[in-house]
Amino acid sequence: MATNMFRANGKSFYWMGNETHKVPMALYSENRQRLVQRLKGNLRTPADAYIFLEGGKNVSLYDTDVDYNVFRQEPYFMWTFGVPLPDCIGLVEVASGNPYLFVPRYPEEYGIWMGSPPKAEDFKDAFGIDNVYYMDELEAFLDKLPSVTLLTLNGKNSDSGLTTPKITWDKLLRYKIKDDLLYYEITQCRVIKNKYEIEVLRYVAAVSVEAHKRVMHYVKPGVYEYQCESEFLNYCYQNGGCRHVSYTCICGSGHNSSILHYGHEGAPNNKAIENGEMCLFDMGANYCGYAADITCSYPANGKFTEDQKAIYNAVLDASRAVINALKPGQSWVAMHKLANRVMLTKLKEIGILVGEVEHMLQAELAAFFQPHGLGHFIGLDVHDVGGYLTGHPPRPTERSLKSLRTARTIEKGMYVTVEPGCYFIDTLLDEALSNEKLSVFFNKEVLQRFRGFGGVRIEDDILITEEGCEIFSCNLPRTVAEIEAFMKSKLASN
Ligand code: GLY
Ligand code: MN
Ligand code: MN
Repeated sequence: MATNMFRANGKSFYWMGNETHKVPMALYSENRQRLVQRLKGNLRTPADAYIFLEGGKNVSLYDTDVDYNVFRQEPYFMWTFGVPLPDCIGLVEVASGNPYLFVPRYPEEYGIWMGSPPKAEDFKDAFGIDNVYYMDELEAFLDKLPSVTLLTLNGKNSDSGLTTPKITWDKLLRYKIKDDLLYYEITQCRVIKNKYEIEVLRYVAAVSVEAHKRVMHYVKPGVYEYQCESEFLNYCYQNGGCRHVSYTCICGSGHNSSILHYGHEGAPNNKAIENGEMCLFDMGANYCGYAADITCSYPANGKFTEDQKAIYNAVLDASRAVINALKPGQSWVAMHKLANRVMLTKLKEIGILVGEVEHMLQAELAAFFQPHGLGHFIGLDVHDVGGYLTGHPPRPTERSLKSLRTARTIEKGMYVTVEPGCYFIDTLLDEALSNEKLSVFFNKEVLQRFRGFGGVRIEDDILITEEGCEIFSCNLPRTVAEIEAFMKSKLASN
């Protein structure tokens, strides 16, 4: 069986050896129990209901043995069963809570190319699920039940707009199906993290923090952005056992730090970093599917100019104002507005803006400096599910709020990013200046000084607790003084 599966004293773990985190399979049994409880509490759940979840498929590039990517499990299936392998189906009987796993019966050749094929028995040991069968036994299993209604996943992701993948099992339509129940209930469950999930998230955030610090010591004028990316990736994998990152690394320097999704195939972190430039590095490791999403902004040469310091502190003040206020019962929309207010106040102090901050807020000026939302849920998806669900506030329509990935009231057990930013994006600034209701707020001469500055984002990963919140990415140098001292310590040790 896969070597990262480990069973000792009757307990199964996902584990990458060395000092890496052991993820107990109890994480998934607890998830299943919570989900089953919710479904039992829903009057629309039939008495003969079985949760039906299809795992991800491994798709090869056409006509080669090369996969598109190292396989990543479909997150709803992963959340429920903890099985990171492709081509499986899982069931959970709602009445009893019993899980059933259906796994591929691997062909003989599997052993030649992929190593000894895992048998159903091996899955039992590795994942702590007693009822494991082969996929070709699924139909007979269901036919033996006196009656069954399959609860299938059907919903639209409120960030991507994409619908959950269509089930490919070709016998599905022989059975009674109910597809309007599971998505809502499982998504609600995923918003609140259990104690085992919290420990994985704490671990992957800590690995990412150390990797960011490694990069801060590595960076200097003359190195390429992708070399910083490479330093991060290497640290996370070599020291943290994180084979994946949670999203394409964003390693913008200078003007590139204002490009929100920089690092994509058309702009692959391929600029040489110059003296005097700011870096905005947004990178997060992934362990056992769980994500970190952390951004650090600092000058490449380790010493802030006065203008860099001013913009950095505007964002830091916004971040800290939110973190100080963050606790159960707060509205996420109110937190976003708080960050906007603090940032606009600081931009006025710097002299870029003039006029009443209240009027700037009414005119939605904040959206021209921070076009994205304050943050998002994070978990098995980096932009985790559940932002907009029935029974919770809908997506606001105002320009400065419409990019928010949730408008929910904060609850204990939610895990979020707080990531205010301030960017000098020419298209947005030009738009604001050409609008007479907005242009009155600008001191154009001072603004001109910041054209080409790039941007600053400070992004932390935060658990909502009973009383407030806990920053899992707290072990980073964050103030100007801390950053300068930390970056200088590299010079001293060189
Ligand atoms: N790294 C993507 C984000 O910050 O949401
Ligand atoms: Mn984020
Ligand atoms: Mn990010």
